Amino acid sequence: DTKRFFTDCLLTWNRLHNSRSMPWKGEKNPYKIWLSEIILQQTRVEQGWPYYERFITNYPVVEKLAAAPEEEVFRLWQGLGYYARCKNMLAAAREIAGKHKGAFPNTYEGITSLKGVGAYTAAAIASFAFNLPHAVLDGNVYRVLARFFGIDTPTDTTAGKKLFTQLAQEVLAKDQPATYNQAIMDFGAVVCKPQQPLCTACPLASRCEAHQKGLTDLVPVKSKK
Ligand code: ADE
Repeated sequence: DTKRFFTDCLLTWNRLHNSRSMPWKGEKNPYKIWLSEIILQQTRVEQGWPYYERFITNYPVVEKLAAAPEEEVFRLWQGLGYYARCKNMLAAAREIAGKHKGAFPNTYEGITSLKGVGAYTAAAIASFAFNLPHAVLDGNVYRVLARFFGIDTPTDTTAGKKLFTQLAQEVLAKDQPATYNQAIMDFGAVVCKPQQPLCTACPLASRCEAHQKGLTDLVPVKSKK
């Protein structure tokens, strides 16, 4: 069926054609994944990349970050903006180092209870570090799903979030959540791009609703509330 085709196609594209390389890709250490995802929350990959490298160099384990003076951490954060993110990150590091003796929480519930960690970040950590079957839902995933399945429900509404969350979970490859989640994000960044998507090279195009109807420029839909 269509959902199975979608998942299989993405995994095959990933295996044969995905050459995207990033320092946190394939990483299994939950601390490093968490750090990368916090940095990337409101930041583009290219911009976040050197920050990630500097943080890992300065604080290779969570105890190092937890023990660092706030001014020093803020200085390393300079340029990323959204300083609440940095403050939450430090609070979470101190919580892990203290309460959990440096052991990162290894359940979705435990991960989601960390300061600054929402549904997206929790799914990313749970899947990448622990292979737990939680689908990530970020801008890339919204776009790929909305286009392929031809969904015109605005993504920034309660109904939209619910619909896309459910669909994302249905098409997740439950036997390889880490590989699948990274694949769909990479696919959204490299092939199913916001502007000028590479439909002629896309393995999903033959069954993509938006492509078939010439609507890739109009999907995903955002409510202008
Ligand atoms: N943005 C946030 N997390 C990402 C990841 N793991 N890969 C690519 N882009 C991302």
